[in-house]
Amino acid sequence: MFVKIKGTGSCLPEKVLDNFEISQLVDTNDEWIQSRTGIKSRHIAREETAVSMAAKAAKRALEDAQVAAEEIDFLIVSSVSSEQLLPCTACSVQKEIGAVNAAAFDLNAACSGFIVAYQMAAGQIKAGLSKKALLIGVECLSNIVNWEDRGTCILFGDGAGAAVVSADEDGNIDGRGNIEIPSVLHSDGSRGEVLTCQNPTGKRADGSLKGYVAMDGREIYKFAARQVPVVVKEILEKAGKSVEEVDLFVLHQANRRIVEAIAKRLKQPIEKFPMDMMQNGNMSSASIPVLLDELKKAGKLQPGMKIVVAGFGAGLTWGGMYLEW
Ligand code: ACO
Repeated sequence: MFVKIKGTGSCLPEKVLDNFEISQLVDTNDEWIQSRTGIKSRHIAREETAVSMAAKAAKRALEDAQVAAEEIDFLIVSSVSSEQLLPCTACSVQKEIGAVNAAAFDLNAACSGFIVAYQMAAGQIKAGLSKKALLIGVECLSNIVNWEDRGTCILFGDGAGAAVVSADEDGNIDGRGNIEIPSVLHSDGSRGEVLTCQNPTGKRADGSLKGYVAMDGREIYKFAARQVPVVVKEILEKAGKSVEEVDLFVLHQANRRIVEAIAKRLKQPIEKFPMDMMQNGNMSSASIPVLLDELKKAGKLQPGMKIVVAGFGAGLTWGGMYLEW
């Protein structure tokens, strides 16, 4: 028995910013961006907020799962770019959707956030402490991107994805001992400086604080291309499955070249690696749940399919899980 994703939902801002528009803001061009990243356009929040997008995605996931908001007992929001610190985004979403019986809190694990949320919820369910959890990845990265830095502003997008998770047999607490959680998490703070964003409201003696995303792109590329294939094998060993048995690898959508490098190292056809960064950019913790929702809506997730989900990003953090749909 596994902890299953019972329903998914997503919400993307109305405004689409394509590469041509970005080339009017900074010295870049569509050819450079597409060839280096695969990204053609991304959604940027104007009227929308992290709370409003997360609440919409959550309502859609609840509807998809046919679960009432009152049934949710554990609500996690993963975000690094919400407009609010207090109350936490999860509590505001709880209020918006009426999940009155949920324990709600935020977590920050950047692009691995959805994976961390899944593992925490799965552990709660296995321990018998929760029955139904709502996991949301939401980002308003346009809040923390330096729109004068062509090295970073081309990469990111805004949006929210949500998933309702519960044990295979709803509410069967007696069965919890049989729940398997083939999930793996890692972090390495000693390499944290390759992707940073200071809190602009924080204090620094030298006055150097800037609340913008800064990164060493090449180091992140190398980290992802090396570590993700290793963690995928670790997850599959836990699940007792081979790489060949996997139908789909749903990876964090940082950029096309990273996904291609991972597919090559795993010696798997690129068709097993669905991508949506072309139209959504990199949405950090929202990337994976949005992609899952798009795949589900497109009928590409069929019951019984074997799926490996993996995230990687700032911290550094990385990890993933094996799911049977
Ligand atoms: N348009 C045109 N030229 C650019 C742009 C741009 N948007 N950005 C940088 N350049 C220029 C640089 O100034 C540099 O010029 P120079 O040679 O004259 O100095 C040249 O292009 C090469 O710059 P690099 O930064 O070395 O470019 P690189 O080939 O490494 O590509 C990229 C950059 C796409 C970011 C790459 O390093 C990468 O894919 N890294 C992965 C990082 C990533 O995806 N991060 C996302 C966040 S982290 C996460 O989600 C896990």
